[in-house]
Amino acid sequence: MHVSVIGTGYVGATTCATLASMGHRVIGVDVDQQKVAMLNSGRLPFYEEGLEALMGSLITQGSLTFTTDLPKAVTESEILFLTVGTPSQSDGSADLSYIEEAVRQIGRHLDRYKVVVSKSTVPVGTGDRVRAILEAELAKRGVVIPFDVVSNPEFLREGKALHDALHPDRVVIGCESDKARAMMTELYQGVRTVMLYTSVRDAEMIKYASNAFLALKISFVNELARLCEKTGSSISKVARGMGLDSRIGPQFLRAGIGYGGSCFPKDVRALIHLGKQQGVPLQLLDAVTSINQTQAPWFLQKVETAIGPFSGKRIALLGLTFKPGTDDIREAPALAMIEMLQERGAEVSAFDPQGMEAVRQIHPQVKMATDAYGAIDGADAVLLVTEWPEFLDLDWSKVRKRMRGRWILDGRNALDGDKLRASGFAYACVGERRSE
Ligand code: UDX
Repeated sequence: MHVSVIGTGYVGATTCATLASMGHRVIGVDVDQQKVAMLNSGRLPFYEEGLEALMGSLITQGSLTFTTDLPKAVTESEILFLTVGTPSQSDGSADLSYIEEAVRQIGRHLDRYKVVVSKSTVPVGTGDRVRAILEAELAKRGVVIPFDVVSNPEFLREGKALHDALHPDRVVIGCESDKARAMMTELYQGVRTVMLYTSVRDAEMIKYASNAFLALKISFVNELARLCEKTGSSISKVARGMGLDSRIGPQFLRAGIGYGGSCFPKDVRALIHLGKQQGVPLQLLDAVTSINQTQAPWFLQKVETAIGPFSGKRIALLGLTFKPGTDDIREAPALAMIEMLQERGAEVSAFDPQGMEAVRQIHPQVKMATDAYGAIDGADAVLLVTEWPEFLDLDWSKVRKRMRGRWILDGRNALDGDKLRASGFAYACVGERRSE
Protein backbone atom coordinates (compact mmCIF):
# COMPACT_ATOMS: atom_id res chain seq x y z
CA MET A 1 0.00 0.00 0.00
CA HIS A 2 1.07 3.64 -0.40
CA VAL A 3 1.29 5.43 2.92
CA SER A 4 2.39 8.85 4.16
CA VAL A 5 3.40 9.60 7.71
CA ILE A 6 3.18 13.29 8.65
CA GLY A 7 5.57 14.24 11.47
CA THR A 8 8.90 12.45 11.89
CA GLY A 9 9.57 12.42 15.63
CA TYR A 10 10.23 9.06 17.30
CA VAL A 11 6.66 7.85 16.72
CA GLY A 12 6.57 9.04 13.11
CA ALA A 13 10.02 7.74 12.18
CA THR A 14 9.29 4.38 13.82
CA THR A 15 5.93 4.15 12.03
CA CYS A 16 7.67 4.93 8.71
CA ALA A 17 10.27 2.20 9.22
CA THR A 18 7.87 -0.50 10.46
CA LEU A 19 5.33 0.06 7.68
CA ALA A 20 8.08 0.11 5.02
CA SER A 21 9.58 -3.08 6.48
CA MET A 22 6.16 -4.74 6.08
CA GLY A 23 6.37 -4.12 2.34
CA HIS A 24 4.47 -0.81 2.03
CA ARG A 25 5.80 2.23 0.18
CA VAL A 26 6.16 4.96 2.73
CA ILE A 27 6.73 8.71 2.51
CA GLY A 28 7.71 10.49 5.73
CA VAL A 29 6.76 14.18 5.76
CA ASP A 30 8.16 16.95 7.92
CA VAL A 31 8.22 20.76 7.75
CA ASP A 32 11.86 20.84 8.83
CA GLN A 33 14.02 20.76 5.69
CA GLN A 34 17.24 19.96 7.59
CA LYS A 35 15.60 17.05 9.38
CA VAL A 36 14.27 15.67 6.08
CA ALA A 37 17.73 15.89 4.48
CA MET A 38 19.24 14.12 7.48
CA LEU A 39 16.61 11.36 7.39
CA ASN A 40 17.05 10.87 3.64
CA SER A 41 20.76 10.31 4.23
CA GLY A 42 19.79 7.56 6.69
CA ARG A 43 20.57 9.46 9.88
CA LEU A 44 18.18 9.95 12.80
CA PRO A 45 18.11 13.26 14.69
CA PHE A 46 17.52 11.31 17.95
CA TYR A 47 18.61 8.00 19.43
CA GLU A 48 16.32 5.00 19.04
CA GLU A 49 17.63 1.44 19.29
CA GLY A 50 17.95 -0.30 15.91
CA LEU A 51 15.94 2.31 14.01
CA GLU A 52 18.72 4.08 12.14
CA ALA A 53 20.09 0.82 10.70
CA LEU A 54 16.65 -0.37 9.54
CA MET A 55 15.77 3.03 8.09
CA GLY A 56 19.05 3.16 6.17
CA SER A 57 18.37 -0.15 4.43
CA LEU A 58 14.75 0.76 3.62
CA ILE A 59 15.88 4.08 2.09
CA THR A 60 18.49 2.25 -0.02
CA GLN A 61 15.85 -0.26 -1.17
CA GLY A 62 13.61 2.66 -2.16
CA SER A 63 10.61 1.70 -0.01
CA LEU A 64 11.05 4.73 2.30
CA THR A 65 11.65 8.38 1.44
CA PHE A 66 11.30 11.64 3.33
CA THR A 67 10.06 14.96 1.99
CA THR A 68 8.79 18.41 2.96
CA ASP A 69 6.34 18.25 0.04
CA LEU A 70 3.07 17.44 1.82
CA PRO A 71 0.80 17.99 -1.23
CA LYS A 72 2.81 15.41 -3.23
CA ALA A 73 2.72 12.95 -0.32
CA VAL A 74 -1.07 13.35 -0.06
CA THR A 75 -1.57 12.74 -3.78
CA GLU A 76 0.63 9.64 -3.79
CA SER A 77 -0.89 7.91 -0.72
CA GLU A 78 -4.01 5.90 0.13
CA ILE A 79 -3.46 6.18 3.87
CA LEU A 80 -2.20 9.30 5.67
CA PHE A 81 -0.89 8.97 9.23
CA LEU A 82 -0.79 11.97 11.56
CA THR A 83 2.19 11.64 13.92
CA VAL A 84 2.85 15.27 14.79
CA GLY A 85 3.35 16.41 18.39
CA THR A 86 0.52 17.21 20.81
CA PRO A 87 2.43 19.06 23.58
CA SER A 88 0.89 20.13 26.90
CA GLN A 89 -0.51 23.65 27.18
CA SER A 90 -0.33 25.62 30.43
CA ASP A 91 -3.80 24.35 31.52
CA GLY A 92 -2.76 20.72 30.94
CA SER A 93 -4.76 20.31 27.74
CA ALA A 94 -3.13 18.93 24.58
CA ASP A 95 -2.11 21.50 21.96
CA LEU A 96 -3.74 20.33 18.73
CA SER A 97 -2.46 23.12 16.50
CA TYR A 98 0.09 20.88 14.68
CA ILE A 99 -2.60 18.27 14.00
CA GLU A 100 -5.06 20.90 12.79
CA GLU A 101 -2.55 22.50 10.45
CA ALA A 102 -1.57 19.13 8.95
CA VAL A 103 -5.25 18.22 8.46
CA ARG A 104 -6.02 21.58 6.80
CA GLN A 105 -3.20 20.93 4.34
CA ILE A 106 -4.46 17.43 3.64
CA GLY A 107 -7.92 18.93 2.96
CA ARG A 108 -6.42 21.38 0.48
CA HIS A 109 -4.83 18.59 -1.54
CA LEU A 110 -7.17 15.61 -1.15
CA ASP A 111 -7.84 14.30 -4.66
CA ARG A 112 -9.61 10.93 -4.09
CA TYR A 113 -10.79 8.65 -1.27
CA LYS A 114 -8.19 8.32 1.48
CA VAL A 115 -8.02 7.25 5.07
CA VAL A 116 -6.66 9.84 7.53
CA VAL A 117 -5.29 8.09 10.60
CA SER A 118 -4.46 9.76 13.87
CA LYS A 119 -1.56 8.07 15.66
CA SER A 120 -0.66 11.08 17.79
CA THR A 121 -2.14 10.97 21.29
CA VAL A 122 -5.20 13.17 21.04
CA PRO A 123 -8.12 13.99 23.34
CA VAL A 124 -11.35 12.10 22.84
CA GLY A 125 -13.37 13.85 20.16
CA THR A 126 -10.36 14.87 18.03
CA GLY A 127 -11.46 12.45 15.30
CA ASP A 128 -14.65 14.49 14.90
CA ARG A 129 -12.58 17.68 14.79
CA VAL A 130 -10.34 16.20 12.07
CA ARG A 131 -13.44 15.25 10.06
CA ALA A 132 -14.93 18.75 10.46
CA ILE A 133 -11.68 20.44 9.32
CA LEU A 134 -11.43 18.18 6.26
CA GLU A 135 -15.08 18.84 5.37
CA ALA A 136 -14.59 22.59 5.75
CA GLU A 137 -11.51 22.56 3.49
CA LEU A 138 -13.31 20.49 0.84
CA ALA A 139 -16.33 22.83 1.05
CA LYS A 140 -14.00 25.82 0.50
CA ARG A 141 -12.75 24.13 -2.65
CA GLY A 142 -16.34 23.33 -3.65
CA VAL A 143 -15.56 19.62 -4.07
CA VAL A 144 -17.03 16.44 -2.61
CA ILE A 145 -14.37 13.79 -1.98
CA PRO A 146 -15.06 10.85 0.33
CA PHE A 147 -12.60 10.09 3.18
CA ASP A 148 -12.51 8.24 6.49
CA VAL A 149 -10.99 9.25 9.80
CA VAL A 150 -9.38 6.49 11.88
CA SER A 151 -7.74 6.46 15.31
CA ASN A 152 -4.83 4.02 15.57
CA PRO A 153 -2.95 4.95 18.74
CA GLU A 154 0.66 3.90 19.32
CA PHE A 155 1.90 2.27 22.50
CA LEU A 156 5.63 2.65 21.82
CA ARG A 157 8.17 2.98 24.57
CA GLU A 158 11.07 5.29 23.77
CA GLY A 159 14.24 3.32 23.24
CA LYS A 160 12.20 0.20 22.46
CA ALA A 161 9.96 1.84 19.86
CA LEU A 162 10.99 -0.40 16.97
CA HIS A 163 10.56 -3.59 18.98
CA ASP A 164 7.16 -2.43 20.28
CA ALA A 165 5.99 -1.44 16.80
CA LEU A 166 7.02 -4.78 15.27
CA HIS A 167 5.71 -6.90 18.19
CA PRO A 168 2.75 -5.01 19.66
CA ASP A 169 0.54 -6.47 22.41
CA ARG A 170 -2.42 -5.24 20.37
CA VAL A 171 -3.30 -3.03 17.42
CA VAL A 172 -6.25 -0.77 18.18
CA ILE A 173 -8.20 0.48 15.17
CA GLY A 174 -10.95 2.99 15.85
CA CYS A 175 -12.96 3.38 12.66
CA GLU A 176 -16.49 3.80 11.50
CA SER A 177 -16.59 2.39 7.97
CA ASP A 178 -16.08 -1.10 6.49
CA LYS A 179 -13.85 0.32 3.80
CA ALA A 180 -11.45 1.96 6.27
CA ARG A 181 -11.50 -1.15 8.45
CA ALA A 182 -10.56 -3.35 5.45
CA MET A 183 -7.72 -0.98 4.45
CA MET A 184 -6.30 -0.85 7.99
CA THR A 185 -6.53 -4.65 8.24
CA GLU A 186 -4.63 -5.02 4.98
CA LEU A 187 -2.03 -2.51 6.18
CA TYR A 188 -1.32 -4.52 9.34
CA GLN A 189 -1.61 -8.01 7.87
CA GLY A 190 2.10 -8.64 8.49
CA VAL A 191 1.70 -8.14 12.26
CA ARG A 192 0.70 -11.14 14.35
CA THR A 193 -1.28 -9.84 17.30
CA VAL A 194 -4.80 -9.09 18.52
CA MET A 195 -6.57 -6.59 16.28
CA LEU A 196 -9.12 -4.64 18.28
CA TYR A 197 -11.72 -2.75 16.26
CA THR A 198 -13.55 0.01 18.11
CA SER A 199 -15.19 3.36 17.53
CA VAL A 200 -12.85 6.33 17.02
CA ARG A 201 -13.76 7.68 20.48
CA ASP A 202 -13.03 4.32 22.14
CA ALA A 203 -9.60 4.14 20.49
CA GLU A 204 -8.76 7.71 21.54
CA MET A 205 -9.72 6.90 25.13
CA ILE A 206 -7.85 3.55 25.15
CA LYS A 207 -4.57 5.40 24.60
CA TYR A 208 -5.06 7.87 27.45
CA ALA A 209 -6.50 5.22 29.74
CA SER A 210 -3.55 2.87 29.15
CA ASN A 211 -0.90 5.50 29.85
CA ALA A 212 -2.77 6.85 32.88
CA PHE A 213 -3.15 3.32 34.30
CA LEU A 214 0.57 2.60 33.94
CA ALA A 215 1.37 5.93 35.62
CA LEU A 216 -1.08 4.99 38.36
CA LYS A 217 0.71 1.69 38.99
CA ILE A 218 4.01 3.56 39.38
CA SER A 219 2.60 6.21 41.73
CA PHE A 220 0.81 3.51 43.75
CA VAL A 221 4.03 1.66 44.33
CA ASN A 222 5.99 4.86 45.00
CA GLU A 223 3.53 5.99 47.67
CA LEU A 224 3.54 2.53 49.21
CA ALA A 225 7.36 2.67 49.22
CA ARG A 226 7.18 5.64 51.58
CA LEU A 227 4.98 3.62 53.92
CA CYS A 228 7.22 0.55 53.67
CA GLU A 229 10.11 2.61 55.02
CA LYS A 230 8.04 3.31 58.15
CA THR A 231 6.71 -0.22 58.59
CA GLY A 232 10.03 -1.93 57.95
CA SER A 233 8.77 -3.74 54.83
CA SER A 234 10.66 -3.88 51.55
CA ILE A 235 8.78 -2.39 48.56
CA SER A 236 10.73 -4.58 46.11
CA LYS A 237 9.59 -7.74 47.90
CA VAL A 238 6.04 -6.38 48.30
CA ALA A 239 5.85 -5.51 44.59
CA ARG A 240 7.16 -8.94 43.66
CA GLY A 241 4.54 -10.58 45.83
CA MET A 242 1.81 -8.42 44.31
CA GLY A 243 3.00 -8.90 40.76
CA LEU A 244 2.82 -12.69 40.97
CA ASP A 245 -0.96 -12.32 41.10
CA SER A 246 -1.84 -12.57 37.42
CA ARG A 247 -4.67 -10.08 37.94
CA ILE A 248 -2.09 -7.47 38.98
CA GLY A 249 0.94 -8.41 36.86
CA PRO A 250 4.60 -7.67 37.64
CA GLN A 251 5.22 -4.74 35.30
CA PHE A 252 5.34 -1.04 36.21
CA LEU A 253 5.61 -1.81 39.91
CA ARG A 254 9.23 -0.72 40.27
CA ALA A 255 9.52 1.98 42.92
CA GLY A 256 11.86 4.86 42.22
CA ILE A 257 12.08 8.63 41.93
CA GLY A 258 9.00 8.96 39.71
CA TYR A 259 8.05 8.70 36.07
CA GLY A 260 9.11 11.23 33.43
CA GLY A 261 9.29 11.33 29.66
CA SER A 262 7.20 12.72 26.86
CA CYS A 263 4.07 10.64 27.51
CA PHE A 264 3.03 9.82 31.07
CA PRO A 265 3.17 13.32 32.62
CA LYS A 266 1.59 14.95 29.56
CA ASP A 267 -1.11 12.34 29.01
CA VAL A 268 -2.15 12.18 32.66
CA ARG A 269 -2.46 15.99 32.65
CA ALA A 270 -4.50 15.90 29.44
CA LEU A 271 -6.88 13.27 30.83
CA ILE A 272 -7.33 15.28 34.04
CA HIS A 273 -8.12 18.32 31.89
CA LEU A 274 -10.64 16.34 29.84
CA GLY A 275 -12.31 15.14 33.05
CA LYS A 276 -12.61 18.72 34.33
CA GLN A 277 -13.99 19.87 31.01
CA GLN A 278 -16.65 17.15 31.11
CA GLY A 279 -17.55 17.78 34.76
CA VAL A 280 -16.01 14.48 35.90
CA PRO A 281 -13.03 15.34 38.12
CA LEU A 282 -10.53 12.45 38.00
CA GLN A 283 -9.47 12.43 41.65
CA LEU A 284 -7.33 9.33 41.38
CA LEU A 285 -5.26 10.90 38.61
CA ASP A 286 -4.83 14.12 40.61
CA ALA A 287 -3.26 11.95 43.31
CA VAL A 288 -1.10 10.10 40.74
CA THR A 289 0.33 13.44 39.57
CA SER A 290 0.87 14.79 43.05
CA ILE A 291 2.65 11.62 44.23
CA ASN A 292 4.87 11.77 41.16
CA GLN A 293 5.73 15.43 41.69
CA THR A 294 6.69 14.84 45.31
CA GLN A 295 8.64 11.61 44.79
CA ALA A 296 12.01 13.15 43.79
CA PRO A 297 11.85 15.76 46.63
CA TRP A 298 10.91 12.94 49.04
CA PHE A 299 13.97 10.98 47.91
CA LEU A 300 16.26 13.99 48.30
CA GLN A 301 14.94 14.46 51.82
CA LYS A 302 15.94 10.88 52.50
CA VAL A 303 19.40 11.58 51.04
CA GLU A 304 19.80 14.65 53.25
CA THR A 305 18.77 12.70 56.34
CA ALA A 306 21.44 10.14 55.47
CA ILE A 307 24.36 12.40 54.58
CA GLY A 308 23.56 15.64 56.44
CA PRO A 309 22.85 19.14 55.01
CA PHE A 310 23.62 19.49 51.28
CA SER A 311 25.37 22.83 51.64
CA GLY A 312 29.01 22.47 50.58
CA LYS A 313 28.59 18.79 49.67
CA ARG A 314 29.58 17.27 46.36
CA ILE A 315 26.79 15.16 44.88
CA ALA A 316 27.36 12.95 41.83
CA LEU A 317 24.38 12.03 39.67
CA LEU A 318 24.65 8.84 37.63
CA GLY A 319 22.13 9.24 34.82
CA LEU A 320 20.09 12.22 33.66
CA THR A 321 17.66 10.91 31.03
CA PHE A 322 14.13 9.97 32.16
CA LYS A 323 15.00 6.30 31.66
CA PRO A 324 17.85 4.28 30.09
CA GLY A 325 18.11 3.69 26.35
CA THR A 326 17.08 7.19 25.29
CA ASP A 327 18.60 10.67 25.02
CA ASP A 328 15.32 12.23 26.16
CA ILE A 329 15.38 14.42 29.25
CA ARG A 330 11.78 15.67 29.01
CA GLU A 331 10.26 15.79 32.50
CA ALA A 332 13.19 13.71 33.76
CA PRO A 333 13.34 13.59 37.60
CA ALA A 334 17.04 14.54 37.28
CA LEU A 335 16.09 18.11 36.29
CA ALA A 336 14.07 18.78 39.44
CA MET A 337 16.77 17.09 41.54
CA ILE A 338 19.56 19.28 40.13
CA GLU A 339 17.51 22.39 40.84
CA MET A 340 16.79 21.36 44.43
CA LEU A 341 20.38 20.27 45.12
CA GLN A 342 21.81 23.53 43.79
CA GLU A 343 19.27 25.59 45.71
CA ARG A 344 20.41 23.89 48.89
CA GLY A 345 24.05 24.68 48.16
CA ALA A 346 25.34 21.36 46.81
CA GLU A 347 27.91 21.13 44.04
CA VAL A 348 26.51 18.76 41.39
CA SER A 349 28.50 16.63 38.97
CA ALA A 350 26.95 14.16 36.55
CA PHE A 351 27.48 11.61 33.84
CA ASP A 352 24.95 10.19 31.39
CA PRO A 353 25.75 8.27 28.18
CA GLN A 354 23.17 10.24 26.15
CA GLY A 355 21.60 13.12 28.07
CA MET A 356 24.43 15.48 29.10
CA GLU A 357 24.27 17.93 26.21
CA ALA A 358 20.56 18.62 26.70
CA VAL A 359 20.91 19.06 30.48
CA ARG A 360 23.90 21.37 30.01
CA GLN A 361 21.60 23.80 28.15
CA ILE A 362 19.26 24.03 31.16
CA HIS A 363 21.73 23.66 34.05
CA PRO A 364 25.13 24.96 32.87
CA GLN A 365 26.53 24.89 36.45
CA VAL A 366 26.46 21.09 36.60
CA LYS A 367 29.93 19.65 36.09
CA MET A 368 29.55 17.10 33.30
CA ALA A 369 32.15 14.33 33.37
CA THR A 370 33.46 12.15 30.57
CA ASP A 371 32.58 8.95 32.39
CA ALA A 372 30.91 7.72 35.58
CA TYR A 373 34.20 7.69 37.51
CA GLY A 374 34.86 11.31 36.55
CA ALA A 375 31.46 12.32 37.96
CA ILE A 376 32.14 10.42 41.17
CA ASP A 377 35.56 12.07 41.78
CA GLY A 378 35.58 13.64 45.25
CA ALA A 379 31.83 13.09 45.78
CA ASP A 380 30.29 12.88 49.22
CA ALA A 381 27.40 10.88 47.82
CA VAL A 382 26.52 9.17 44.54
CA LEU A 383 22.88 9.16 43.42
CA LEU A 384 21.73 6.61 40.87
CA VAL A 385 19.13 8.57 38.90
CA THR A 386 18.84 6.53 35.68
CA GLU A 387 19.55 2.80 35.70
CA TRP A 388 21.76 2.63 32.58
CA PRO A 389 23.25 -0.91 32.46
CA GLU A 390 26.81 0.44 32.62
CA PHE A 391 26.10 1.94 36.08
CA LEU A 392 25.05 -1.44 37.43
CA ASP A 393 28.39 -2.89 36.55
CA LEU A 394 30.90 -0.32 37.82
CA ASP A 395 34.25 -1.21 39.35
CA TRP A 396 33.11 -0.45 42.89
CA SER A 397 36.56 -0.55 44.46
CA LYS A 398 37.59 2.17 42.01
CA VAL A 399 34.45 4.13 42.91
CA ARG A 400 35.24 3.80 46.62
CA LYS A 401 38.77 5.15 46.11
CA ARG A 402 37.61 8.12 44.05
CA MET A 403 34.80 9.21 46.41
CA ARG A 404 35.27 11.53 49.38
CA GLY A 405 32.30 10.07 51.25
CA ARG A 406 30.84 6.56 51.16
CA TRP A 407 27.11 6.99 50.41
CA ILE A 408 25.42 5.36 47.40
CA LEU A 409 21.77 6.35 47.12
CA ASP A 410 19.88 4.23 44.66
CA GLY A 411 16.90 6.12 43.23
CA ARG A 412 15.93 3.22 40.98
CA ASN A 413 16.34 0.21 43.27
CA ALA A 414 18.67 -1.22 40.67
CA LEU A 415 21.92 -1.87 42.57
CA ASP A 416 22.89 -4.79 44.82
CA GLY A 417 22.78 -3.14 48.27
CA ASP A 418 24.27 -6.11 50.14
CA LYS A 419 27.25 -6.26 47.80
CA LEU A 420 27.85 -2.51 48.14
CA ARG A 421 27.61 -2.63 51.93
CA ALA A 422 30.08 -5.52 51.94
CA SER A 423 32.44 -3.34 49.88
CA GLY A 424 32.39 -0.61 52.52
CA PHE A 425 29.70 1.69 51.14
CA ALA A 426 26.71 3.07 52.98
CA TYR A 427 23.68 2.25 50.83
CA ALA A 428 20.05 3.31 50.77
CA CYS A 429 17.35 2.85 48.14
CA VAL A 430 13.61 3.54 47.79
CA GLY A 431 11.12 1.80 50.07
CA GLU A 432 13.52 -0.07 52.37
CA ARG A 433 14.01 1.00 55.96
CA ARG A 434 17.54 -0.31 56.17
CA SER A 435 20.24 2.25 55.36
CA GLU A 436 24.03 2.00 55.72
C1 UDX B 1 5.37 5.15 27.86
C2 UDX B 1 4.49 3.91 27.61
O1 UDX B 1 5.14 2.75 28.17
C3 UDX B 1 4.21 3.73 26.13
O2 UDX B 1 3.32 2.64 25.95
C4 UDX B 1 3.59 5.01 25.59
O3 UDX B 1 3.32 4.92 24.23
C5 UDX B 1 4.52 6.19 25.85
O4 UDX B 1 4.78 6.28 27.26
P1 UDX B 1 7.95 5.72 27.71
O5 UDX B 1 7.58 7.07 28.25
O6 UDX B 1 8.86 5.65 26.54
O7 UDX B 1 6.65 4.89 27.29
O8 UDX B 1 8.69 4.92 28.89
P2 UDX B 1 8.37 3.77 29.92
O9 UDX B 1 9.36 2.70 29.72
O10 UDX B 1 6.96 3.39 29.92
O11 UDX B 1 8.74 4.52 31.30
C6 UDX B 1 8.09 5.73 31.66
C7 UDX B 1 8.62 6.25 32.99
O12 UDX B 1 8.17 5.44 34.06
C8 UDX B 1 10.16 6.27 33.11
O13 UDX B 1 10.55 7.47 33.74
C9 UDX B 1 10.47 5.06 33.99
O14 UDX B 1 11.64 5.22 34.72
C10 UDX B 1 9.25 5.04 34.90
N1 UDX B 1 8.94 3.72 35.46
C11 UDX B 1 8.53 2.71 34.64
C12 UDX B 1 9.02 3.51 36.84
O15 UDX B 1 9.36 4.43 37.59
N2 UDX B 1 8.68 2.29 37.34
C13 UDX B 1 8.28 1.26 36.55
O16 UDX B 1 7.98 0.18 37.10
C14 UDX B 1 8.21 1.48 35.15
